[in-house]
Amino acid sequence: MRMEYLLKRSQLRAELPRVEIESRIASLVRVAGNLELEPLRVLLDRHFDGAAGLVEEFPLLIESAVSSGRGFAWRDPTGNYVAHAAWRPVELVSRETRLSAAGIGLVTTHSEYRERGLASALVEGCVQQAREQGAELALLFSAPRRLYARLGFVEAGSERIRLFRGVGSGAKLPTGVSVRNGGIDDAGALLELLRSHPLRVERSLSDLRRLLAIPHTHVHVAERENAVVAYCIEGKGRDLRGVVHEWAGETAALEGALETACAAYGEPLWVLSPASEPAPFVARGRDPDEDRVGSFVLARSLVSKGRLDPEDSRSLAVPSLAELPDFYVWGLDSV
Ligand SMILES: CC(C)(COP(=O)(O)OP(=O)(O)OC[C@H]1O[C@@H](n2cnc3c(N)ncnc32)[C@H](O)[C@@H]1OP(=O)(O)O)[C@@H](O)C(=O)NCCC(=O)NCCS
Repeated sequence: MRMEYLLKRSQLRAELPRVEIESRIASLVRVAGNLELEPLRVLLDRHFDGAAGLVEEFPLLIESAVSSGRGFAWRDPTGNYVAHAAWRPVELVSRETRLSAAGIGLVTTHSEYRERGLASALVEGCVQQAREQGAELALLFSAPRRLYARLGFVEAGSERIRLFRGVGSGAKLPTGVSVRNGGIDDAGALLELLRSHPLRVERSLSDLRRLLAIPHTHVHVAERENAVVAYCIEGKGRDLRGVVHEWAGETAALEGALETACAAYGEPLWVLSPASEPAPFVARGRDPDEDRVGSFVLARSLVSKGRLDPEDSRSLAVPSLAELPDFYVWGLDSV
């Protein structure tokens, strides 16, 4: 999950007698394809971070898992899922070029079944299927973990994280500009503005409408003469709270939208942007931690530039990552 370093989560883990867990593991079946929604919902609600609602927060990834054949799970003899991973195609626009990527997410193992290799096998299943379907890059929005490092994922992508303090009630909007709350009816205008960014994910209008319906996704839209001239988005489900993870449009109007977002949130906001683009506002803080650049994703290149060793797919992965074009994934697209 994105921005885990800002939004710390506790991990659930329970202990069972070793013999019992060994026999349970032996009875599991690995399934791939279209998963059943309700058992999947139960696993995610109980075992991702203990809070319900991920099915609604990741509509595109869930759709991919239940109806596009891109779900991977371990199922117990009663039909319950005890581990899950899924992916969806993400087309990265990198200036004049495009890159086919696979966004892998909702990697979850039932707390009693962890550290048995279940998630590793499912993530590898996602990677192999994505590669077969033409993906050049696999992406995982997660804090670095040894499990992902072993599968060939390394920190990648360059993102600026800057604190927006706002000026509070003294904020002035440019003449003729007003800011209001936005929503799914603004999807067309937002998409048009987003396309001014040279690095982004190609997103359909219907996908954006579904993403804007994710709970706790707050859109602030700046308008002039009834035309949307800038916007910013704070929050996405349980993730990215207090974080503006997408913005676009005219600079002064955008600052107005950020001021409104800041006032609505009640605290300074972290604003994300691709490191290769100018940030949307000038930093005011003196603390270097308030304006930093870091990696935003774990990635594994699936492009094989030479040697193909079927015994070790990871040997293909890491070296060519640096040869891929610059890319960026705005918050709504992850995943
Ligand atoms: C992260 C998570 C999915 C890992 O699931 P898992 O099934 O335990 O993962 P694995 O067993 O494949 O790998 C975990 C570790 O067990 C080790 N392992 C694998 N097989 C093993 C075995 N047979 N015996 C002992 N350890 C084993 C792995 O090497 C790995 O070690 P590492 O910690 O050094 O990386 C699980 O902890 C979870 O659901 N967490 C909550 C949700 C979450 O944070 N998801 C990730 C963000 S998308």
